[in-house]
Amino acid sequence: MTAGWLAPDLTMNAADYRELVGAALAFKQRYPQHTECVLRGKAIYFLFYNPSLRTRSSFQTGLSRMGGHPITLDPQNGIYTPALPEAEIPYSTERVADVARVLSAYGDAIAIRMYGAPAGWVYGGAHRHLEAFAKWASVPVINMECDRFHPCQALADVMTLRERLGGLTGRRLCISWAYSGSWHKPVAVPQSLLLAAVKSGMDVTLAHPPAFALDPAVMNAAEKFADQTGARVRVTHDFRDGMSDAHAVYAKSWCSLTHLPAHAGEPVDETAMRAAFEPHRHWCVDQAVMGHAAPNAGYLHCLPADRGQEVADDVIDGPQSWVFQQAANRLHAQNAIMAHLLNPGCLA
Ligand code: CP
Repeated sequence: MTAGWLAPDLTMNAADYRELVGAALAFKQRYPQHTECVLRGKAIYFLFYNPSLRTRSSFQTGLSRMGGHPITLDPQNGIYTPALPEAEIPYSTERVADVARVLSAYGDAIAIRMYGAPAGWVYGGAHRHLEAFAKWASVPVINMECDRFHPCQALADVMTLRERLGGLTGRRLCISWAYSGSWHKPVAVPQSLLLAAVKSGMDVTLAHPPAFALDPAVMNAAEKFADQTGARVRVTHDFRDGMSDAHAVYAKSWCSLTHLPAHAGEPVDETAMRAAFEPHRHWCVDQAVMGHAAPNAGYLHCLPADRGQEVADDVIDGPQSWVFQQAANRLHAQNAIMAHLLNPGCLA
């Protein structure tokens, strides 16, 4: 397997991760004048099984401006849908193992977004697709969000926290579930962020209603990283308690893992999924909720945000909102990731 960017939040040690965050912040200072040739001639294939504004635009802009060639392939229209053996349909799908080897022969990396419906909503199913790509590709595979991790987002998040708060050791981050009218948001963002934050030494309070617990394997990994960095992880089911004295509040919705199907082909119990959300409509970050956080605490969200449900307009548009700096950092985080994978010398 070639080195890639599949689940670095889980697999990369804390020291290496911190070093990469520092390198990404320095790389940002050189962009665009002093980075314009670092990926000259490099071709990356971008496969989006799900919609995207930020990831698609920032990756493709960044790669173009560094001299490379972004090539978008739509897995559900225009190519044979890359599939694992158990989901193959003659002349409609193509085995991931074959796609990965073919694209490796043409270009320099393969980037994939896949979560939810394209993997039948079985938790971990999308991540297995990415692992299959990585197994068969001879070029790096980049995770642009699967059902377990969103490592590009997490790097941008930590960069933003570093820019706003300076050193992160001992700084308090609240990662909170928030209400949404959609049950479809994956757990990838809070899971990657939790791991990236504790590697950065932050004390994290994870706030969610009981039915919205994260993957126990991720929680265990977070505790292990916290032991190494001296960070603390606390879980609360009380929204306002979660905000208490936080230096940064990252509140977004995610789905309930307990209501996802265990096996491919089983339907999602949408009634149960929605019922899990409805008692928690008050989990919306408004000015009163932000008042429980530390003075001048920042509000973060990966976007797209469900305004009026996850967050009030006057918070996301107000002086405490860091979300547009965070969105801008997607470009810089991913530039650093592409450079790290394809021309690591230029990051030094
Ligand atoms: N935050 C994020 O990944 O945005 P997109 O879904 O627009 O790519």
